[in-house]
Amino acid sequence: MAQAKEKIVYVCSSCGAVFDKWSGKCRECGEWNTLEEEIQKPVIPSKAPHARQSSSLLSSAEQKSIRLKDIPDGMTDGIRIKTGMHELDRALGGGIVKSSVILISGEPGIGKSTLLLQLAGSCCTSGMDSQSADGCPDGRRILYVSGEESAAQIKLRAKRLNVQNDTLFLFCETDADAILAEIDSVKPDILIIDSVQTIFDRSLSSSSGSISQVKQISQLFISRTKSCDMATVLVGHVNKDGAIAGPKLLEHMVDVVLHFEGDRTRSYRIVRAAKNRFGSTNEIGVFEMTGEGLEEVGDPSMRLIEDTPKNVPGACPVCVMEGTRPIIAEVQALVSKTPFPTPKRIGNGTDFNRMSIILAILEKRLGMRLYDKDVYINVTGGLRLDETSTDLGIAAAVISAARDKSVPADMIAIGELGLSGECRAVPGTEARVAEAVRMGFNKILLPQRSYEKMRSKSNEKLLCPVRSIFNLSEYIGNDQN
Ligand code: TYD
Ligand code: MG
Repeated sequence: MAQAKEKIVYVCSSCGAVFDKWSGKCRECGEWNTLEEEIQKPVIPSKAPHARQSSSLLSSAEQKSIRLKDIPDGMTDGIRIKTGMHELDRALGGGIVKSSVILISGEPGIGKSTLLLQLAGSCCTSGMDSQSADGCPDGRRILYVSGEESAAQIKLRAKRLNVQNDTLFLFCETDADAILAEIDSVKPDILIIDSVQTIFDRSLSSSSGSISQVKQISQLFISRTKSCDMATVLVGHVNKDGAIAGPKLLEHMVDVVLHFEGDRTRSYRIVRAAKNRFGSTNEIGVFEMTGEGLEEVGDPSMRLIEDTPKNVPGACPVCVMEGTRPIIAEVQALVSKTPFPTPKRIGNGTDFNRMSIILAILEKRLGMRLYDKDVYINVTGGLRLDETSTDLGIAAAVISAARDKSVPADMIAIGELGLSGECRAVPGTEARVAEAVRMGFNKILLPQRSYEKMRSKSNEKLLCPVRSIFNLSEYIGNDQN
């Protein structure tokens, strides 16, 4: 019998479209530079076709339309599975929803496998008392599929994390059919695939991790998840730009996309929802990587400012909103005379353009001489502050650093700066002020308009109105450098 030949095809990493010829622009989705070469072998029939089910995302029993009001309220009871990790539950909007698919991505070594093993450990029993009608009296069944580590390696980590559950099953396999068959036999409540890039489908010729494989594998697990009560967590690698490796389509296919962020060299880790079909995407979960795995940080403000030295020039606390949660962090600035013709501007944890605007406002409106000085801005704890509410704090830190005068130890600055130096109100001021009061700040600098609104409240004595950058300057001592 003549053997069918291998063929080179070009697959778009954005939409997954397949072409015979390479071109700079994808003809399907219009993206540039997204076509990648793949070798396509002839299709080999799957060894275990019985393990697969219909690719329909709907349950086969429910093919007719139904009136929204006819859906019984009780149907949503117990639909969320609490993970037992409050910070993760918070990022997920209250827990893992049954029959949903979560994609979690992050840089190598950030702690994805650690997080999921801990989740598997705490999820087995979490909330079981209230949901004993679940049908799994001996704890929730979790199937942890690893394509990256051996059972012994995972056991070693589990010991370190103190994860020991009778209903946690490990399966070290990379063949999709074998995994589907194992799902049939274990019947897990939660399936964890670590990672989607290491699993391959025999019917496709391309190597695991290629765009077509990732798309196919995801589709397989998504359709299996939607057809039963099981929830699935997929781990996704990121490419060098920080985007999830594989087709962009993958993010559209899943229900929740979580990004696990943080600086590998620092201990703080943040789980951020980039997409959530069942909750808000603004919420974050904060963790700290310790010797015994990830520890939840329930009070991030306290952690972020407790170790910062007081009365040091160039530091000012700010308050950002992460979803509904206000978090206090410290902005540090260093201003020093430059030996170079063009001064350096380095911002770590801040938006560079925003930082340039604030420096320009300080030069133009306050007449500060910064053009012959290097300016470095850093945010403590490895946090990224992209909010304009930190403008006032950044300006205060720079003024303080340039004058070598510290801001008062109990001062915090909340507000946005306009180009003419005016201070503008920001959303969520009440929550921010409440957090600042809780953390013991006695001088809360806030825009005049917010002050007017809030002055009737009990903590008027602590509020300091700031109309413009000139008022701000007065709080930091005004002998010019
Ligand atoms: P890992 O979960 O393997 O990362 P990923 O799956 O995202 O690649 O985490 C690896 C890092 O976490 C590794 O550098 C060591 C660190 N770590 C700890 O600091 N403490 C721990 O208890 C564990 C399990 C890992
Ligand atoms: Mg891993």
